[in-house]
Amino acid sequence: KEHISEVEQFSADSTEALEAFRIKYLGKKGILNKYFAEFKNIPKEDKKAFGQTINQLKTAATEKVNSLKSNLEQSVKASSKYGDLSRPGEPMELGARHPISIVKNQIIDIFSRIGFNVSEGPEIEDDWHNFTALNLPEHHPARDMQDTFFVQTDPDILLRTHTSSVQVRYMENNKPPIRTISPGRVYRNEAISARSHCFFHQVEGLYIDKNVSFADLKQTLQFFTQELFGKSRIRLRPSYFPFTEPSAEVDVYWGLETETDYRITKGTGWLEIMGTGMVDPNVLDNCGIDSKVYSGFAFGMGIDRIALLLHQIPDIRLLSENDVRFLEQFRSSL
Ligand code: PHE
Repeated sequence: KEHISEVEQFSADSTEALEAFRIKYLGKKGILNKYFAEFKNIPKEDKKAFGQTINQLKTAATEKVNSLKSNLEQSVKASSKYGDLSRPGEPMELGARHPISIVKNQIIDIFSRIGFNVSEGPEIEDDWHNFTALNLPEHHPARDMQDTFFVQTDPDILLRTHTSSVQVRYMENNKPPIRTISPGRVYRNEAISARSHCFFHQVEGLYIDKNVSFADLKQTLQFFTQELFGKSRIRLRPSYFPFTEPSAEVDVYWGLETETDYRITKGTGWLEIMGTGMVDPNVLDNCGIDSKVYSGFAFGMGIDRIALLLHQIPDIRLLSENDVRFLEQFRSSL
């Protein structure tokens, strides 16, 4: 009986202690076997009570060993430095590229195939690189085309309104021939709606060399629209930019090319996709390139609107809200 209460109170904090306990009671030379061997010497009238007691002891000891064993196993798992190795694995969630990055990479890829490199510059710019060098002197009315965020303490510092500023920096630091595209985020003080935001993304391009003509411009953009949209019908509409002369707006014909072209369901017709023109000689001279020797063309497009178009996204704000239900839809894209 004393043994039974000892067994009930026993607890073990290691497998070694538990094993010693098991051997002590249930081992070959253990307490239980000793009593079982004693059994034949017990007087007949006591046999029944004695037998019951040792059976009780045996059950108690066996149950104790089993329950302590499983407790110890649990705590070993929980305290293992690798955590519980027996838990089922959690699948690794793969992220998705942002649609802006997808389209930006496609554009970079297309232009890199015809010799353009990628240049980048600061988002916080000075007046010279964003405006003045681009033939937009102070008080020039065309500055109103791009509502600007200024840094409060210094009217010379602003958030760039276009990545043309990067092209100014590139021309200041590199000699022609120049073939570069400048992707990046730009800021304009505009009301936020489904169609426009106070920040968006651009890719601007610049090509400067001897004898660059408007025909080169047109052919380059034709190649680009064919590669990106699978559509080569473009239209150049006369336009105005202070930094190019002549200037044009580029429309791509976004419609059913053939009766079997069922990819595009809505938004057919001519869609404006970028601004372009021959770089104004003043801009070349401002940036240290001799306009009597060199000429070139520039172009600029908004990545966000192209992403809306290519992926049939109805609202530009989805691009900056970080809603994973939206973002994970691009898992299968490039
Ligand atoms: N910088 C112009 C804009 O942001 C785009 C442009 C670039 C137009 C180059 C012509 C030439 O609107």
